[in-house]
Amino acid sequence: MSLDGNIKSVKNDFLTDLDAFQAQDADLSHIRQKYLARNGLIADLFKQLGQVSNEDRPKYGQLLNQLKVDITEKIDSLSSSNDSNDKSDSVDIALPGKHYDIGSVHILEQTLNETKKIFNDIGFSIAYGPEIDDDYHNFGALNFPEHHPARDMQDTFYIGNDSLLRTHTSSSQVHFMENNEPPIRILSPGRVYRNEDISVRSYCLFHQIEGLYVDKNVTFSDLKGTLEYFAKQFFGPKTKIRFRPSYFPFTEPSAEMDVYWGLNSESDHRITKGTGWLEILGCGMVNPEVFKSVDYDVKKWNGYAFGLGIERIAMLKYGIEDIRLLYEGNINFLGQFK
Ligand code: PHE
Repeated sequence: MSLDGNIKSVKNDFLTDLDAFQAQDADLSHIRQKYLARNGLIADLFKQLGQVSNEDRPKYGQLLNQLKVDITEKIDSLSSSNDSNDKSDSVDIALPGKHYDIGSVHILEQTLNETKKIFNDIGFSIAYGPEIDDDYHNFGALNFPEHHPARDMQDTFYIGNDSLLRTHTSSSQVHFMENNEPPIRILSPGRVYRNEDISVRSYCLFHQIEGLYVDKNVTFSDLKGTLEYFAKQFFGPKTKIRFRPSYFPFTEPSAEMDVYWGLNSESDHRITKGTGWLEILGCGMVNPEVFKSVDYDVKKWNGYAFGLGIERIAMLKYGIEDIRLLYEGNINFLGQFK
């Protein structure tokens, strides 16, 4: 075929390819490649110049140069208008979104809230007290005699002659009773401090919730019923509980309540010391001596009290084996409890 014919067919091809591109059937970079690459169709035509007579060569040379310029310009203009299309459409819905970490309520706070809710539902309201208190509110009014070994049960941080960090939130209840008349149904949550060696099981501070109910004719079975209700709400409806006799200066009789944990795994054996039972709280009927300290008529009023550790029930419920994890602020650990 003559060079004339070949030029014509390249031009036709190019027009066909442009149509295909407009119909989004062809890709501009492939078209550029096909015509303008070093071994493309235009380069091919230039090679054929050798076959043309000397006389005609300048004319065809010019023709091919012009063709190359035309095709280049056409492709360039299409590709730049294509780019500006891309820009006007600049939201790329396939890009992954920005990720922000959302915080979570600390597991102790969650446990506290859950416990409060369970007791609120049966009429307990919240009464707070000071974390720095005096010997009288933490011990004396609660029937801990001076120099009595019972004070050693709670390794106290003293901060001066008569100031201490409260060792339990029973002290909040003394403050409350000083300012309120029965009947009383309160829950005292808060942080308490004890000078204990730090280990997987104990820490120098922890959180308690203590309950106090004062009314007429309150019985030990009222106490048991309330605590059984709590255990079933918190740990699940099949939870088994038991009471063991115990001693606290401010309650008489006193007891400790255990929940049945089972002995299914090695760790169950370890944390229940082979018994399957775990102690979760102390409780009892309020000792009349306590009522005398706050000027309640002991012939008229009686009541029950109980106190439990928030860390302890959180660790049981969520299988946390080291209490220190609760104070370290490790996001990987805390993020599990969203
Ligand atoms: N205050 C006790 C403690 O901290 C717990 C308790 C509260 C026991 C009420 C009996 C009654 O150990």
